[in-house]
Amino acid sequence: MGKSSKDKRDIYYRKAKEQGWRARSAFKLLQLNEEFDLFKGVTRVVDLCAAPGSWSQALSKEIFGKPHSDDARIVAVDLQPMSPIDHVTTLQADITHPKTLEKILEIFGGEKADFVCSDGAPDVTGLHDLDEYIQAQLILSALQLATCVLKVGGTFVAKVFRGRDIDLLYGQLSYLFDKVICAKPRASRSSSLESFIVCIGYRPRPGWKPELRPDVSTEEFFQGMGIGRAKLNDDLSVDDEERKIAPFIACGDLNGSYDSDATYPIDKKDASSDSKKSLDPVQMPTAPPYKKALEMKRKGELRVTK
Ligand SMILES: C[S@@+](CC[C@H](N)C(=O)[O-])C[C@H]1O[C@@H](n2cnc3c(N)ncnc32)[C@H](O)[C@@H]1O
Repeated sequence: MGKSSKDKRDIYYRKAKEQGWRARSAFKLLQLNEEFDLFKGVTRVVDLCAAPGSWSQALSKEIFGKPHSDDARIVAVDLQPMSPIDHVTTLQADITHPKTLEKILEIFGGEKADFVCSDGAPDVTGLHDLDEYIQAQLILSALQLATCVLKVGGTFVAKVFRGRDIDLLYGQLSYLFDKVICAKPRASRSSSLESFIVCIGYRPRPGWKPELRPDVSTEEFFQGMGIGRAKLNDDLSVDDEERKIAPFIACGDLNGSYDSDATYPIDKKDASSDSKKSLDPVQMPTAPPYKKALEMKRKGELRVTK
């Protein structure tokens, strides 16, 4: 797909470039904030799976320059290197690795965070079950990390894909947070299973010990808490525990914001001359998978064989 064709077919992609966001995802976080007022009073943030950095850009813009922002701190973590963003400490690391948690706590000087978010998505293999499993493990790692760094009353927001066991996840989250809502911002395509869990009011139960355990499954992590597990009775009948259903909210101004599944002609909707030409991305990828091929092409070492 050519750049200008993508500009027409994806209004948020184009708007991101016009407004200086590194990715269209910025609009998803901004629309979630519009609905839930997520950034109010927030000074310490951990942005997990943050590259190329549009969420961190939005957080930096919303948090700094406001009252009490002098000691504000944003840490952005990703496997990929990230170009610098004002007021953001970037960390190239794996969120599933225990050392990453240590580094975040070190940056915060032992203080806890008000807000942890994760827009994580692993590379897709195409094997559906494996992809679903890896995504679930990534969410679990983000949640485990959040429980270790969030202060009581803090907020956790994460991307999820509404699959088979999503109600089990809601049950698990409700065990740790006062309020769990599933939200779909307008910038997220309706055709995608993607949505965001917004968990407000971190309230670890007495006896709950937050820890990062990359070696366990979600079910093992919550073992012993009686959340949504099927119980096998002596007479071999099975009691399914009641599963939670989280309220589902569509957000982003339904009249004012764009529909991410619609195609908008470029030059009719926008009057500026800039909007007629195709814009370059705000931030070129720092370590794209095709980097080596580009270097080889530049040196004339790339041969195409038929
Ligand atoms: C959709 S992108 C995030 C976009 C970002 N929120 C933004 O606004 O620019 C998903 C990111 O998850 C990162 N990721 C996947 N697995 C990870 C892991 N185990 N640790 C850290 N980052 C990870 C990928 O490198 C990728 O950059």
